[in-house]
Amino acid sequence: MEIAKLEPLIVLTGAGISAESGVPTFRGAEGLWRTYRAEELATPIAFHRDPLLVWEFYAWRRELIAACEPNQAHWLLADIEKQISDFTLITQNVDGLHAAAGSRNIIEIHGSIWRMRCTSCGDRWDDGNVPLEKLPPPCPGCGEKARPDVVWFGETLDPEVLDHAFETVQRARVMLVIGTSGIVYPAAELPRVGKMHGAKLIEINTEITPISGIADQVYQSKATIGLQDWWADQQKD
Ligand code: OAD
Repeated sequence: MEIAKLEPLIVLTGAGISAESGVPTFRGAEGLWRTYRAEELATPIAFHRDPLLVWEFYAWRRELIAACEPNQAHWLLADIEKQISDFTLITQNVDGLHAAAGSRNIIEIHGSIWRMRCTSCGDRWDDGNVPLEKLPPPCPGCGEKARPDVVWFGETLDPEVLDHAFETVQRARVMLVIGTSGIVYPAAELPRVGKMHGAKLIEINTEITPISGIADQVYQSKATIGLQDWWADQQKD
């Protein structure tokens, strides 16, 4: 295989890549907590109204994710990155499983559940403690309450991070889109922009999505199987 013809290789992942690790996707029924949908709690309005409730939801998700391991798709992406020098992984996932598998060049466009941000002074810090000692967790600097450093529904993405993601997909020769429903913007725009700038677009998803129609190739299968199949197909070419 000629690696150069895959470069720059840009990968966009969504909740579907972590499904086989046991992390519930957002739009599946298993994404429910108590009687709430993620969309009801992962919002600035919900946090303003009841920070403890929102933190209980995140404490539950942190515990659930802490018990999960990366799967073969996370591992294979980390392995591919070792072989391809111009490689960037853009993820909507906040679970940290790509980094746990050894991926290095990652753009986390929706933040990380393992990072905190102070609602008062704006400081950010990593916190992998499970369970958390106190809810809501206090800022070590000023003592005010922290929030998870993730992007909530109704919030805008960090403009610098987003610019970086858009610049990256514009350079793509090949773009792999794995396990994302393609309905949450602006992330859903990334495959379109990549394609518009000449990328070959490959989708791996168990379902047909709004991205399928513009993809050059669709692997309708689980992330682990689809990625393995795509990679095997590259060895043949
Ligand atoms: P969704 O939960 O919207 O979509 C998950 C996608 O993964 C669906 O298209 C499924 O068909 C697919 N899927 C499920 N299991 C799979 C598997 N084993 N292999 C491959 N594909 C599989 O998740 P996202 O698209 O990531 O935003 O959602 C985008 C954003 O909306 C999230 O980052 C989050 C969410 O609400 C924020 O938190 C801001």
